[in-house]
Amino acid sequence: MNILLTGGAGYIGSHVAAPLVSAGHHVVCFDNLSNSDPSVMERLEAITGQPVPLVTGDIRNGDALREVMLGHAIEAVIHFAGLKAVGESVAEPMKYYDNNVRGTLSLLEAMADCGAKTLVFSSSATVYGQPQYLPLDENHPTSATNPYGRTKLMIEEMLADVAAADPEWRIAILRYFNPVGAHDSGLIGENPNGVPNNLMPFIGRVAAGRLKELSVFGNDYDTPDGTGVRDYIHVVDLADGHVAALDAIAKTNQPLSIWNLGTGTGYSVLDMVKAFERVNGVPIPFRIAPRRDGDVASCFASPERAARELGWTAERDLDAMCSSSWRFEHMLATRNAD
Ligand code: NAD
Ligand code: WQD
Repeated sequence: MNILLTGGAGYIGSHVAAPLVSAGHHVVCFDNLSNSDPSVMERLEAITGQPVPLVTGDIRNGDALREVMLGHAIEAVIHFAGLKAVGESVAEPMKYYDNNVRGTLSLLEAMADCGAKTLVFSSSATVYGQPQYLPLDENHPTSATNPYGRTKLMIEEMLADVAAADPEWRIAILRYFNPVGAHDSGLIGENPNGVPNNLMPFIGRVAAGRLKELSVFGNDYDTPDGTGVRDYIHVVDLADGHVAALDAIAKTNQPLSIWNLGTGTGYSVLDMVKAFERVNGVPIPFRIAPRRDGDVASCFASPERAARELGWTAERDLDAMCSSSWRFEHMLATRNAD
């Protein structure tokens, strides 16, 4: 298939490009590089053995999208492009509604115009809001606790309306839990601009000596060790989940499908710190800090629907998540030293 990856130069998009190219698909990345570096494409080429084209453009520009879609005879789109910083979304909500919601509407219009109605969308477990029960299955009620989450919820609703209005669409909504880790090669991974918001890249930078210590946000939650519990999923497993979802919607006659991509297992912040130290032999200094606003005690998936309907389950363990993250930090340190 000819597949367009919006946001394809980003953390998850670049990891999904690799198995798609290896499976023989023609992949084109479309990214405005607002949160990524074009050098990722060279590293992707080193992994796949072939160049992966990158078109620099913004999904809010419908003409640019139509040009690339017609030019490459695009048949399916995997839509990663979006802003994802929860705190920033609270401070600048319009930026998030514009980029994420308006951007997705612009993409849907371009896809309809070009007759490409197969879409995989990057949603998030954030759409479950405060968990009412665990593990979270796809039928858990949805709600939003911040503007970022609301953009994901609004897009999900928009996609449901589009699929209901025109049964030619084949749309997969993938609700990711907490993607971490890096490609086995250590060539691509998560490298956020500025101080990381998320736990794993923060731990990586402390390990590399780029940040002094980790602040553990709260140790008085109702969890086994008092720190927050999450469902961390290796990004390479997550990438394989996209390939499985794309295969599934190519065969189904259902216009809309929703799958959780998680492992079903929760680990605490201290579990993550200890695993990283043990696996990589590096100390992670930390201190206990107050709870972070908006955090929940525990959040983990029921991965059963994906297992049943996609034949996909996450296979990589915590050790693989920690070792690959560290390999990627090393690659960055070596590159910066050059
Ligand atoms: P990322 O920031 O690394 O990648 C997103 C990419 O989209 C970046 O390369 C950015 O430059 C690009 N982009 C942003 N706005 C754009 C626009 N208007 N036009 C074109 N390109 C644009 O983030 P990621 O972690 O790879 O996340 C990918 C998707 O998955 C996002 O939609 C995110 O909300 C979703 N998601 C991520 C996580 C996570 O923890 N990483 C969890 C759940 C869902
Ligand atoms: C994990 C745990 C923190 C940083 C966020 C978004 C969610 C989704 C994934 C996109 C929590 C603790 C963290 C730190 C810490 N993204 N922590 N010190 O909050 O589960 O989810 O990213 O859709 O929408 O909300 O992930 O990695 O920020 O936090 O103690 O410096 O680590 O309190 O318990 P979270 P996270």
